[in-house]
Amino acid sequence: MEVLMYLALFFLPIFILKASALKIITPGDSIRDGETLESDNGTFQLGFFSPGDSKNRYVGIWYRVSNTTVVWVANREGPVSDKNGVLSFDDNGILALFNATNGLLWSSNTRRSRTPREPVLKLFEWGNLVVKEMNDDNPLNYYWESFDYPCDNFLPGMKIGKNLVTGFEYYISSWKSSDDPSQGQYSLRIDTRGFPQVVVKKGSETVFRAGSWDGHYLSGRKPEDNPNPLYSYHFVMNQNEVYFRSEILSSSFISRYAMNPFGLMQRFIWHEGRREWQTFSTAQTDLCSTYGLCGSYESCRSDGFTPCSCLEGFVPKSSTSRGLNSTDDMSDTAGCVRRTALDCKDGSDGFLKHTRLELPDTSKAWANNTMNLEQCEEFCRKNCSCTAYANLNVKEKTGCLVWLDELIDITEFSEGRQDLYIRLAKSELDQIQRNRKSKGNQKAVTIAIPIIVPMGLMVTMGLLYKWKRNQGKNKEKMELTIFDFATIANATNNFSSVNKLGQGGFGSVYKGVLKEGREIAVKRLSKDSGQGLDEFKNEVTLIVKLQHRNLVKLFGCCIKGYERMLIYEYLPNKSLDNFIFDKERNKFLDWQRRFHIIDGIARGLLYLHHDSRLRIIHRDLKASNILLDNNMNPKISDFGLARMFGGDQTEDKTRRVVGTYGYMSPEYAFHGRFSMKSDVFSFGVLILEIITGKRNRGYSDLDNNLLQHAWRLWTEGRSLELIDKALVHTDGDAAAVGSNTCITTEIIRCINVALLCVQQRPEDRPNMSSVLLMLGGESTLLQPNQPGYFIEKDLPPLMAAADCRSQEQSICSNEFTITVLDAR
Ligand SMILES: *[C@@H]1O[C@H](CO)[C@@H](O)[C@H](O)[C@H]1NC(C)=O
Ligand SMILES: *[C@@H]1O[C@H](CO)[C@@H](O)[C@H](O)[C@H]1NC(C)=O
Ligand SMILES: *[C@@H]1O[C@H](CO)[C@@H](O)[C@H](O)[C@H]1NC(C)=O
Ligand SMILES: *[C@@H]1O[C@H](CO)[C@@H](O)[C@H](O)[C@H]1NC(C)=O
Ligand SMILES: *[C@@H]1O[C@H](CO)[C@@H](O)[C@H](O)[C@H]1NC(C)=O
Ligand SMILES: *[C@@H]1O[C@H](CO)[C@@H](O)[C@H](O)[C@H]1NC(C)=O
Repeated sequence: MEVLMYLALFFLPIFILKASALKIITPGDSIRDGETLESDNGTFQLGFFSPGDSKNRYVGIWYRVSNTTVVWVANREGPVSDKNGVLSFDDNGILALFNATNGLLWSSNTRRSRTPREPVLKLFEWGNLVVKEMNDDNPLNYYWESFDYPCDNFLPGMKIGKNLVTGFEYYISSWKSSDDPSQGQYSLRIDTRGFPQVVVKKGSETVFRAGSWDGHYLSGRKPEDNPNPLYSYHFVMNQNEVYFRSEILSSSFISRYAMNPFGLMQRFIWHEGRREWQTFSTAQTDLCSTYGLCGSYESCRSDGFTPCSCLEGFVPKSSTSRGLNSTDDMSDTAGCVRRTALDCKDGSDGFLKHTRLELPDTSKAWANNTMNLEQCEEFCRKNCSCTAYANLNVKEKTGCLVWLDELIDITEFSEGRQDLYIRLAKSELDQIQRNRKSKGNQKAVTIAIPIIVPMGLMVTMGLLYKWKRNQGKNKEKMELTIFDFATIANATNNFSSVNKLGQGGFGSVYKGVLKEGREIAVKRLSKDSGQGLDEFKNEVTLIVKLQHRNLVKLFGCCIKGYERMLIYEYLPNKSLDNFIFDKERNKFLDWQRRFHIIDGIARGLLYLHHDSRLRIIHRDLKASNILLDNNMNPKISDFGLARMFGGDQTEDKTRRVVGTYGYMSPEYAFHGRFSMKSDVFSFGVLILEIITGKRNRGYSDLDNNLLQHAWRLWTEGRSLELIDKALVHTDGDAAAVGSNTCITTEIIRCINVALLCVQQRPEDRPNMSSVLLMLGGESTLLQPNQPGYFIEKDLPPLMAAADCRSQEQSICSNEFTITVLDAR
């Protein structure tokens, strides 16, 4: 009986759904509000909907798995005000939407002059809505298709570009808001001037350049992940048309690239298990994504002290042609000019090679795809208006791209991207090369230094710079809550030892209760951050904006004299290390919970690395920095602190490195070089600790540390022995490991991911978006190489461990000093 009821419940809705979902529409049929048209296998549905809080009705296409995700809207400019809309063919075989009084709200204005004999409307499996002849499936003969009129979603198979013969343009355009699908301000299109490039525009103004096709992808970007098993990209350029298109290679997952109402382009992947969209990547990741942030002949570095700096051989415009008083309006002074004017007699100028660049704006560039690099140089040298050249196709190292105007919107990266050869006067070039040679030896040592330099400070300066530039346009509001010192002292019983929750690398933490009853955690920073008041406020303002459910919420700060405090939400369950390393409490963490924690940390980290506009490297990720809320959701704490504590020395003498033994990647421990990949390393260590219930550091067994141990068992095919005993012997628990192969597979997958994360070479480690895909089982796993472990006694003598303040030796954060000797 129960079974029957269950079946009835289960199947009934499907029957109803099937009954009302049509597969094709012919003249005489219609779709009314409440009815749907479905693609053959039901991936997409078409019907009426109301977006967000709106009462208006629109005809749209959505995913069956997520019916609030509308990928296309027909009548975005002509809403139906009630539920009486009807979509059907008119007498000429044109698809039309009428309201109750037969007013025409939208129609498929067919570009072709022919009138269909037997028109049908069909929704294809990949989301294209097509008006075609009943028995003709040739796409060239379609009368009309929705893929020609995209909205805010760039689905696999769609194109953006331009028909150069008719002038017809295919582009993605944002919604006005989440309640209003009418065309908003932003669009993603191909700018066909000069050498075509993919751009995001706000109105007619370019705000972001995704770049030009370089043979692999756009302007030296790695296609999201490399090698990319999920997509293939196509760029077609000939006399008739220019377009860019992606194809999905595996039909087993659902993915879309969409523009939000604020012009942000993001790729989402559907996670069937969680039934939600996950952000896979965001196109505009940092400060330098802003088009034209820097002026001509300037390059932008998002980790630079100020983002913009003159290219070698160039000097700021302001220092030559303007007085000091023009600094108030930076946009006026932005840009650089040549230190030495060009000669431009035959062959007298030279070219300086720049690497790791995102190439300048190509809207005034010229391309030839048969020339090689030497011919390209020759061509550029001979033409006096040529300012730079580069290879057109980096994959085959062919073709020639030359710039015939000032170079703008150049971004410099720490790896990858493209080479650019910039024209300079001969004397200037000689001078630079002499300098480079004499600095050569020094360089090897100083390379690590800019990376240890206070990044927080740099980015802050950069943002200030940007704010200043944008002043008048849109003043950024300070959304920072500054708590009164008396309030905080009151809340924490005057920082009494009873209220003290712990002590970490950056200071002590106290529990507090505000007057209105809200519980807070107060982090009293150690007094040596060396930061000025404004810098500190700016820093906190930025970090307050980072909101994610896997990050601890920062409410604000409190400042008194030299005293700086950060006010966080209070999480009663304390930190992860209190659970996983405790013989009793670890029983509470079954595999499901542990996986949920691993997954949550990965999401938080992905947000810090890729999705937040600040791009934060945590630098001290460890079990005691993962807090757990009431539902055991993990929340990363202490993020962004490294930005404030980067150290403040002006010269490359002493720099503070913050981190914790056992979680530090070798390149960070030894060379102070940190990157997102050093966080990935720490994350790998965390996964192993969560699975084994053992600390990486102080692991005593055959092996020196947990990583070594895990690696040995992995290579011997005995990985299951790593699993925490508390997970195996959960009496009578059906979900205990051992009896459940599904869980075992998931654990092995996690171990594999962990080992990939802790590989010796940072470039071998996956980035966090790949990690998430792998954890979800949506991406194939590679075989890991040997982990990079270091043993403390191997640390170079220059690095002296200092001041470990926690009582419990093994979990304390170490702060130590690296002294980098000047090369000379
Ligand atoms: C629809 O599903 C069938 C059976 O699963 C499959 O063979 C076919 O290729 C699918 N069609 C499309 C267009 O995906
Ligand atoms: C989407 O699905 C929900 C739940 O299945 C349903 O209540 C709602 O009416 C659907 N919306 C549309 C537009 O089909
Ligand atoms: C139907 O549309 C027409 C033209 O857009 C409009 O004038 C009329 O008021 C609409 N009728 C209803 C009931 O909304
Ligand atoms: C600087 O300011 C002075 C007086 O305010 C003005 O006369 C002068 O022209 C300014 N110089 C520039 C380069 O704008
Ligand atoms: C490209 O360069 C080659 C060799 O210099 C020349 O023959 C060809 O005409 C050029 N193509 C275009 C489109 O200018
Ligand atoms: C430089 O080359 C471009 C592209 O071929 C051409 O349009 C321009 O006239 C040339 N200028 C000179 C001074 O030769």
